[in-house]
Amino acid sequence: MKLCMIGTGYVGLVSGVCFSDLGNEVICVDRDQKKVENLKKGIIPIYEPGLDELVLKNYKNNRLKFSTNLKESISKSDIIFICVGTPTKKNSISADLSQIYNVAKEIGGTISKFKIIITKSTVPVTTGDEIEKIISKKVSKKLFSVVSNPEFLREGEAIRDFTYPDRVVIGTNDKKSNKILKNLYSPLISKGAKYLNTSRRAAELIKYASNAFLATKITFINELANLCEKIDVNIEDISIGMGLDKRIGGRFLRAGPAYGGSCFPKDTKAITATADNFKIDLSIIKSVIKSNENRSSLLLKRVTNLLKNKVKNKKICFLGVTFKANTDDMRDSSCLSMIPFLVKQGAKINYYDPTGEKDNFRKFKNVTFSKNISNAIKDSDLIIIHTEWNDFKSINFKKEVKNKKFIIFDMRNIYSPIKMKELKIKYFSIGN
Ligand SMILES: NC(=O)c1ccc[n+]([C@@H]2O[C@H](COP(=O)([O-])OP(=O)(O)OC[C@H]3O[C@@H](n4cnc5c(N)ncnc54)[C@H](O)[C@@H]3O)[C@@H](O)[C@H]2O)c1
Repeated sequence: MKLCMIGTGYVGLVSGVCFSDLGNEVICVDRDQKKVENLKKGIIPIYEPGLDELVLKNYKNNRLKFSTNLKESISKSDIIFICVGTPTKKNSISADLSQIYNVAKEIGGTISKFKIIITKSTVPVTTGDEIEKIISKKVSKKLFSVVSNPEFLREGEAIRDFTYPDRVVIGTNDKKSNKILKNLYSPLISKGAKYLNTSRRAAELIKYASNAFLATKITFINELANLCEKIDVNIEDISIGMGLDKRIGGRFLRAGPAYGGSCFPKDTKAITATADNFKIDLSIIKSVIKSNENRSSLLLKRVTNLLKNKVKNKKICFLGVTFKANTDDMRDSSCLSMIPFLVKQGAKINYYDPTGEKDNFRKFKNVTFSKNISNAIKDSDLIIIHTEWNDFKSINFKKEVKNKKFIIFDMRNIYSPIKMKELKIKYFSIGN
């Protein structure tokens, strides 16, 4: 099939490449000229395991193309996926849909034969109705069908998640579009993905409801970890004990820093904003948002306590600064509030991240980037393990850290407190 992905970010690029790998002809469009030029040269704009090889393979065999020309790309394709950003609006909790509506206007001015227009971006319920209205101002409704097909991939696991999804959700009442899309996804369905056809509005809401539920799970276990710290119970035992119950499940039940990233923070806010518009109070999700927003200050209090209230001039090393491992995405990472706070208190921050130096911290005089773990940790008073990269799981701290009074604060619980005790390392973790 001939597909066009509008927006070549985490979702558009990954799904475009994977669709081309399944044998489709795909044009990935972006308004960012530099990004498109780089992609044509084989330079991948994001860190995503396995992505570069897959891009190269499909670009070489001509199934995958990159372009900045939206009109031409749309006219050459039968199925158009909208994959642009839907960030939180400034000074609001609602989703900013300007990128979506701009694209819808452009699509409207381009269509001359039947196209399926799909929102893969996460959009509030009823956005599909609005897209349909915008496009139908310029072209007859017979020439297009607007479908919701939310994307559930996780950064860091994106290719695997796309190729082996738990489910494919297609929100449309149009039988013809449903048949075409079921066919498009048939290679994934034959590998075990469940195919669910719902109304367009239901598909839009399934995405938000899923993200809000996962954010709730994380926040739930994070709050229980706070209790465990007071009662000499290890939160890891609680996570395992709860997770073994199949009704609950162990995934997203690991205590750690505040959830971040490009989805949970904005999507939890956007779903409550939508509900507010309909005078429905999603009080559980609202309290999840509040609890998560408090989480970083709570962890910072713990950091201050570990340093006996003497943060000034302390050398603090962060291992990992992105919002989670296996991604370079800094959006809403808890480090974005924690590091500036500690700098303000006079700490000297050194950090290492496997995905490299981050622009976010360049403006701080007392924040430096180290090119490897050894350099990052060697002079530290406190080492904060902020993300769960495999690279951080077997560090010989005793050998690597020169300052023998160093402390470790493991925010991902990747080391065994018992082993650390045996090694006589001052080790602190979450919920323990
Ligand atoms: N990142 C994830 O893990 C993830 C997972 C599932 C769903 N989503 C959702 O998918 C959507 C996209 O997220 P993302 O992380 O890929 O965003 P992103 O910011 O990485 O990419 C969006 C891209 O769209 C481009 N763009 C914007 N307007 C355009 C236009 N008019 N024409 C062409 N290109 C345009 C931007 O230049 C950018 O490259 C969001 O709604 C997000 O919530 C994201």
